[in-house]
Amino acid sequence: MGIIFHESTKTFHLFNDTISYIMMVLENGHLGQLYCGKTIRDREDFSHLLEVYSRVMSPSIYDDRHFSLENIKQEYPVYGSSDFRHPAIEVLQENGSYISDFVYQSHQIMKGKPVLKGLPATYVEEDAEADTLIVTLKDELTGVVLELSYTIFAESGVIARNARVVNEGEKTVFLNRVMSLSLDLPDCDYDWIQLSGAWARERNPITRKLTKGVQAVESMRGHSSAQQNPFMMLKRPSTDEFKGEAMGFSFVYSGNFQIQAEVDAYEVTRVLVGIHPEHFCWKLEQGCSFQSPEAVMVYSDQGLNGVSQTFHKLYRHRLARGIWRDQARPILINNWEATYFDFTEEKLLKIASKAKECGVELFVLDDGWFGKRTHERAGLGDWVVNPDRLACGIDGLSEKIEALGLKFGLWFEPEMVNKDSDLYREHPDWILSVPGRHASQGRFQYVLDFSRKEVVDRIYEMMSKILRESRLSYIKWDMNRSITECFSNGYPADQQGEIFHRYILGVYDLYERLTSEFPHVLFESCASGGARFDPGMLYYAPQAWTSDDTDAVERVKIQYGTSMCYPISSIGSHVSITPNHQLNRNTPLHTRANVAYFGTFGYELDLNQLTEEELEEVKEQIQFMKKYRDIIQDGTFYRLQSPFDCSDAAWMVVSHDQKTAIIGWYRTLNRVNESYTRIYPKGLNPEFCYKNSITGVSAYGDELMYAGMSTSDSSSGADMPEIKELMGEDYASRVYVLSAE
Ligand code: DGJ
Repeated sequence: MGIIFHESTKTFHLFNDTISYIMMVLENGHLGQLYCGKTIRDREDFSHLLEVYSRVMSPSIYDDRHFSLENIKQEYPVYGSSDFRHPAIEVLQENGSYISDFVYQSHQIMKGKPVLKGLPATYVEEDAEADTLIVTLKDELTGVVLELSYTIFAESGVIARNARVVNEGEKTVFLNRVMSLSLDLPDCDYDWIQLSGAWARERNPITRKLTKGVQAVESMRGHSSAQQNPFMMLKRPSTDEFKGEAMGFSFVYSGNFQIQAEVDAYEVTRVLVGIHPEHFCWKLEQGCSFQSPEAVMVYSDQGLNGVSQTFHKLYRHRLARGIWRDQARPILINNWEATYFDFTEEKLLKIASKAKECGVELFVLDDGWFGKRTHERAGLGDWVVNPDRLACGIDGLSEKIEALGLKFGLWFEPEMVNKDSDLYREHPDWILSVPGRHASQGRFQYVLDFSRKEVVDRIYEMMSKILRESRLSYIKWDMNRSITECFSNGYPADQQGEIFHRYILGVYDLYERLTSEFPHVLFESCASGGARFDPGMLYYAPQAWTSDDTDAVERVKIQYGTSMCYPISSIGSHVSITPNHQLNRNTPLHTRANVAYFGTFGYELDLNQLTEEELEEVKEQIQFMKKYRDIIQDGTFYRLQSPFDCSDAAWMVVSHDQKTAIIGWYRTLNRVNESYTRIYPKGLNPEFCYKNSITGVSAYGDELMYAGMSTSDSSSGADMPEIKELMGEDYASRVYVLSAE
């Protein structure tokens, strides 16, 4: 790995064994993009890759027509001085002009990776893990300075970027957009993959051909959203899950975002990743700076799985932090679907005792324990226990739960307030809303103005008091509505364009304070399920409630899509009761567990409602998860067969020593007189002989990977009544463990 600067050609080459990223200072002082892809050998001069040709009708910078920004691949383009594509930055100046001209000044190459203050970002533990280049450019007329930061990680095809803007001029400017990443690719022969959805069906992958014009995913909801995830992948048309070139773009941010690809007339593709420019306007006074969040780009020639595995490793080990980062996640039981708001201490303790009997490790008390919160219309904002429900308080309940031998976890929704709450009655101006206008509600609640420090301080006080006084090992941090009427009473008119971003900074600030003061607490983020499942959250909370949809069949799709970017250790997944509360569907208990294993694993039901036989099954499931969770949560994950392509889906994880592989196989509807079916496991050691836990058949890794592993069951005529797993049924599933003998 290294970063080379060729003085004679003013060329930067960032490279490791997987990727080369090359750019140069152009004739006009801007930064040009030369190459981004598989590693190529270094040379002094790559300028021929720039393709600076003159085209009729293109305005040019100089008077000989040879240099038009419209036709040049750039690193951090501006609009309006011969480039008409969407820019990376727009600086509005006192005279109303938004034209700027960022010219190279200097650069710095350093070991390691600087910290982004106040923002989530990937990090290194040793300087040798990454190198960073910071290129400084300046717009002479305004004195606005731009620092573009590029970090290349040693081990994989990762480049992390951010931009910092400093006003060294004399006049205030307004930043209308500051994207975190801009990349011009020389062609558009790509398929675009995005993760889209809605409540209860988050992150379904959608693939389409990249085409001329602009295509984008974005959120303007104030949070990253269930509708679109801040992630996008470009793959070559021939690339599949296992081979071929692909590039993933991920934004380490939890608020409004935009990820866009613009294909121009000559099929050059410009990728932009950053804070959504709509409703964003940052006032930058003399001497002040603005720091963009981080965008991460991953390149792989090992197909989509190659990109995903790179993200998994990076985000699990160098984005998530704290003592929980590397630990197996506790198997939890959450009371939400078991009781909703209808609980008493006695009921909770009964659920907890049965859970303990089955081997569960952590009991989580969900919504409804505080203020007047016996229903959705009251209590949010009053983070003090409701003594009518829990006479012995959270401290008392947590002691009782711990006495049962379980850890105790608690639900909060720190960013919200109900009008029926003491907090709102005391501070009605603390919600985001426009004076004189109606304030829209969502689930009968309002969004607290986290752009104001005093608001964050107050919530911090209430939460930290409970954390100090009780035995809390876990917090589920929920967020159940999007932001409307985004306006803060704490800021003047010319700073209202900052509020969406300042709100998220306030959320990060509260997370930072709580996670550093209570490092032993495991945080799980949540937003009506997976409406804020993004890398920004993972920096503070190493796991996230993936979806409110706990139906096994739907969860295969949701978890399959989520795995495109996010590590298995981050995927909150529970076994719930049937008929399922979201879909009214009945799936077998083992199928619900077989899906939930590929995540953090837990239960979301009252185990007292199960039969003795089912309870025995639950005990076995928990034993299974305890035995294999290290491998599942930290192994190498492969998507094998997509639930979106056919009714059979499969995925697997392989341990680092390749001695154990765990395959999850799922079928929606049973079939009759079916063809033979098989899957092709990946990542095995060809030399190892693996025993199949279901069929008992032993086979070498090469045979399994190349000849395939049969998944045929009774629906294909496999007549093995002694193997109950091979009896076909609707919503069938199997977990095969392949163990090297
Ligand atoms: C939405 C979450 O996704 C659920 O799991 C649950 O915590 C409810 N909120 C509680 O209000």
